[in-house]
Amino acid sequence: MNSRRDFLKLSGLSGVGLAGGSGLLHCSKQKDREDIAVVSRRREKAHVQRFNMSGFAAPPLEIVRVGIIGTGQRGPAYVRNLKHIEGVEIRALCDLRPEKLQSARALLDGTLHRPDLYTGAEDWKRVCERNDIDVVVLTTPFYMHAPMAVYAMKCGKHAVSEVPAAATIEECWDLVETAEKTKRHCIMMENMSYLPFQLLTLNMARQGVFGTVVHGDCAYNTSKMANNFSKTMYWDMWWLRQYASRRGNIYPTHGLGPVGLIMNINRGDKFEFLVSVESNDFMMQAKARELAETDDFFKPFAEKTYRGNMNVTTIRTTMGRTIMLQHDATDPSPHAYIHGIYGTKGSALFDPQPPRLAVGKHAWVSAEEFKELEETYTAKITRQMTESAQRIGAGHAGTDLLEMWRLIDCLHNGLPLDMDVYDAAAYSCIVPLSQWSVLNRSNSIDIPDFTAGAWKSNPLNMDINLQRGGNTPIIA
Ligand SMILES: NC(=O)c1ccc[n+]([C@@H]2O[C@H](COP(=O)([O-])OP(=O)(O)OC[C@H]3O[C@@H](n4cnc5c(N)ncnc54)[C@H](O)[C@@H]3O)[C@@H](O)[C@H]2O)c1
Repeated sequence: MNSRRDFLKLSGLSGVGLAGGSGLLHCSKQKDREDIAVVSRRREKAHVQRFNMSGFAAPPLEIVRVGIIGTGQRGPAYVRNLKHIEGVEIRALCDLRPEKLQSARALLDGTLHRPDLYTGAEDWKRVCERNDIDVVVLTTPFYMHAPMAVYAMKCGKHAVSEVPAAATIEECWDLVETAEKTKRHCIMMENMSYLPFQLLTLNMARQGVFGTVVHGDCAYNTSKMANNFSKTMYWDMWWLRQYASRRGNIYPTHGLGPVGLIMNINRGDKFEFLVSVESNDFMMQAKARELAETDDFFKPFAEKTYRGNMNVTTIRTTMGRTIMLQHDATDPSPHAYIHGIYGTKGSALFDPQPPRLAVGKHAWVSAEEFKELEETYTAKITRQMTESAQRIGAGHAGTDLLEMWRLIDCLHNGLPLDMDVYDAAAYSCIVPLSQWSVLNRSNSIDIPDFTAGAWKSNPLNMDINLQRGGNTPIIA
């Protein structure tokens, strides 16, 4: 790479190569060649909110008919959990790889689900176009989510995207504008927001136990070296290619999601600006070169430069709070979301384990006091779902079942979803904006207000005490 300009071109082009020429990312290719700070300001200025999607509720659906696009690692988690939720019909499964489709299909053996299977490169569009599907779930590589979600919404479907929901600033705005125009849900499924301790601290924050929340520490720090260099783990080595073609935090949402909820982001506060600092890559290129010595497959990867081991992004909110967000998928250090919440009256810390709480006395509370606080503040949603999750052995400590059950329950009852399109855009835009900051000597960059000022009065989301709904049964 000769210069920053070359790198920006490279990173703009990277997605196109990965999309297998399906035409998915041609828009991103052209637009990402511009300075995204300029693009970001231009789109924000041009945006006029057509309809406020915050608090939006679609008409109730007695049966939620689902199509799932992408059945690699994550798609099957949807199949495994959705089949346990009453009033769901999985009507379509779509993946480029027939063997992955077949194994996802096999998870439905012995159930009444009879999905049609799609394997063509453009078949995801056919799934979106069907008139007997309500919801399209996107579990493809993340840089495909936004074009697919936009298409799904334009076809009248609710778009349910895995994380992150968009890879460019243009795509973030495309999601917002399409959702407002079509009045279809566009939710990014941030499952880590449903971890029991994260929900406990959300409930405590809402009840004022931490006072005014001033700061949050959060992260997705977990070694993905083995996964990223595995020839069989991800389709077309797509994660490794992402690490080789981007800079900045490319996986911000698991850490930021739960902290943003506690800070009422897009509902009383919003992200204002960020600065992002990144270490060098000390391991990935070395690993690629080591593998290339004995395996020609890795030779192209040995020539690439990689995103640094550690990215640290600092966000300031409009109401004056701060957030420290890390991403390290390389070092073999213990897994950490951190989830540190610091307020004027108390604090909380999830990682390193065990989780801790403090209520303003310069010390973490004792194990007994922790138990008492947990008993008092565990949200109804956690109580209701813990037993069901254990019964069916749901993944990610039950969070996957909980977030999918909540999605379906809200759709059944015609309720607003836990996250809306403004959240999908605000959490995902950290990907391109942190890259911009890293490439510009960690200068600050504004985070757009995707709500067009409505954040000041938008209603709270995520009804964790189930004041409405909560009546969708789990099938053992
Ligand atoms: N929330 C979580 O805990 C969690 C966990 C894992 C992955 N994810 C997210 O899920 C998404 C998918 O990740 P993964 O690990 O399953 O990757 P994966 O490579 O295992 O699966 C992606 C699948 O998409 C398919 N695909 C690619 N292009 C397609 C197209 N045009 N049409 C249809 N199918 C296509 C591939 O064949 C592959 O099977 C990513 O965004 C990732 O960030 C989230």
